[in-house]
Amino acid sequence: MASLDWNVILTQLSAEQTLQLKAYSLVKQVGSTNEMALQEFCRKDNLPAVCFAESQTHGRGRNGRCWVSPESQNIYMSVAWRFKSGIEILPALSLAVGVVIADVLNSYGLDVSLKWPNDIQVKGKKLAGVLLESQVKVSGEVNLVIGVGLNVYMPDMDALNIDQLWTDIVREKNSINDLDRNEMAGKLLSAIMCLCSGYEKTGFASYRQKWLDYDVCSGVEVQLIEAGKINTGQCLGINEKGALRVLIDGDEQIFYAADVSVRVSA
Ligand code: BTN
Repeated sequence: MASLDWNVILTQLSAEQTLQLKAYSLVKQVGSTNEMALQEFCRKDNLPAVCFAESQTHGRGRNGRCWVSPESQNIYMSVAWRFKSGIEILPALSLAVGVVIADVLNSYGLDVSLKWPNDIQVKGKKLAGVLLESQVKVSGEVNLVIGVGLNVYMPDMDALNIDQLWTDIVREKNSINDLDRNEMAGKLLSAIMCLCSGYEKTGFASYRQKWLDYDVCSGVEVQLIEAGKINTGQCLGINEKGALRVLIDGDEQIFYAADVSVRVSA
């Protein structure tokens, strides 16, 4: 697969977005693009910015997992952005990120759905993941990193290290032809920038229905794993803040992504 090329990625951004970006980096290898974006862009207040890598040695996943990140096959991207509103917008924003990524991937003819909060799946197998990390400033503003890992082509040997059901675009489309990683990376970047630019005005309201349309859990029995304890209930979707609504023993309970992980019951 062709190497990532910043000039090709840029062709997918509007002129306004190109001007908006204060910095970018595209490296062959890094520990984690999220860590690099936090250190290089957030800490120095050089935002908005984006970091791409061909491989990660310590790719981070949610819940302390690692993100398997072999060289030159997939997309590892971290977008750094400043939000004036503060951390309370983050839980719902992380769901909205899932929506815009799903839109981009479905425009490639995939049939992507979302599992709360923002797992991007095809038929129950994970295709992409999103990890938000933030630095809160004294002013209350938040410097946020939105990290996206997308499996474009995962070599079988590397896949042995993945500890969950997974898939990649090549397997889903049965073809390696007509897959342009640069174009895809550019479209994802543009979609996330568009989301971030407008989010403080629009909020989650304009993404909520779309998220529910992509959701695999609504109406389904789920298991919630919280500090080693498992609760079972019927998923009722999400509230306006992006928290999960679950009916447990006749009572509706609300769960936040930082506290629990969800499994669809077999
Ligand atoms: C998940 O577990 O679902 C989230 C995975 C996020 C992986 C991406 S790859 C680019 C960015 N850098 C990281 O270290 N993690 C995110």
